[in-house]
Amino acid sequence: MEDQMKAIRERIEAAAASVRDSKALYQLRKQFLDNKTGEIPALMKGMRDLSAEERPAFGKLVNALKEWALDFFTGRDAELKAAELAEKNAAEQIDVTMPGRPRSAGALHPNTLTANALIDIFAGMGFTVFEGPEIENDYYNFTALNTPKDHPARDMQDTFYVSPELLLRTQTSAGQIRVMENTKPPIKILSPGKVFRSDDDATHSPMFSQMEGLVVDKGITLCDLQGMLDVFAQRIFGEDVKTRLRPSYFPFTEPSVEVDVSCFACGGKGCRLCKGTGWIEVLGAGMVNRKVLENCGIDPDVYTGFAFGMGIERITMLKYGIPNIKMLFESDVRVLSQFAE
Ligand code: PHE
Repeated sequence: MEDQMKAIRERIEAAAASVRDSKALYQLRKQFLDNKTGEIPALMKGMRDLSAEERPAFGKLVNALKEWALDFFTGRDAELKAAELAEKNAAEQIDVTMPGRPRSAGALHPNTLTANALIDIFAGMGFTVFEGPEIENDYYNFTALNTPKDHPARDMQDTFYVSPELLLRTQTSAGQIRVMENTKPPIKILSPGKVFRSDDDATHSPMFSQMEGLVVDKGITLCDLQGMLDVFAQRIFGEDVKTRLRPSYFPFTEPSVEVDVSCFACGGKGCRLCKGTGWIEVLGAGMVNRKVLENCGIDPDVYTGFAFGMGIERITMLKYGIPNIKMLFESDVRVLSQFAE
């Protein structure tokens, strides 16, 4: 009997010696100790085949073996678990001296930088920002701006119509009317926003942004316009830049001008950027047409005003030397990251 017990003990020890982890040990423990299927409980069950004299001694031996086995497995389990924990801790060790992973931070789009710079410049001269709707009534975008339905100047801007009376605004000038209708002079507003025209090439996009300016007060002249544009041009393109006004035509301004800045690349001598002329056209402007003031209930004999409108993408392209307007809409991070401030 004792040999039988000893044999089982040795088998357990031998098997346990090659067990490498606590899961496998658990299986081994089951093989010997599981109440239903284990070898040691089976011995207990076998006791009923023994004679009454043999039973007590056998029972004692089996119990002793069971006690030993329980102790043995508990001990081995603790050892294996400790080793496993140590291994896990070693694997999870953090090297606090390792350099951190850099996070790529986003940045403002160059066109947003330009818009912000413009707002900053004009806010410094007392302008406040007004934002009009992108879907506009025909009236605000054209008719009230002295461009009635049959006016040939409508051809200057290829328009996306939503319905006969609704359109995607072609110019932020629409905002001039919205402001003048509701505000008594003095008026000094800046109106940034998206505009839409059916136009598409290297320097034109069907959607682009404009920055409108409008000043209405007593005694406003074209000199005030040029004075403010000088500040704008010098802050955006450089201290030495000059402006010049050329006669032009817009239905809502009279007189109308095209504003050029002296070429900041060559200092006015003539180069590729200014196409040899020394000047670069940057915006349209003029004195607010009497009819437009009247349309908004402002007396043109008392008040005068000027307005200007510039393409923000155009300013961005000039300022950063961007050759194609599409680069501003493609969201290519390799391009955009060059302009992060
Ligand atoms: N709205 C004109 C355009 O888009 C620009 C402009 C604005 C001209 C204000 C004069 C006054 O071309």
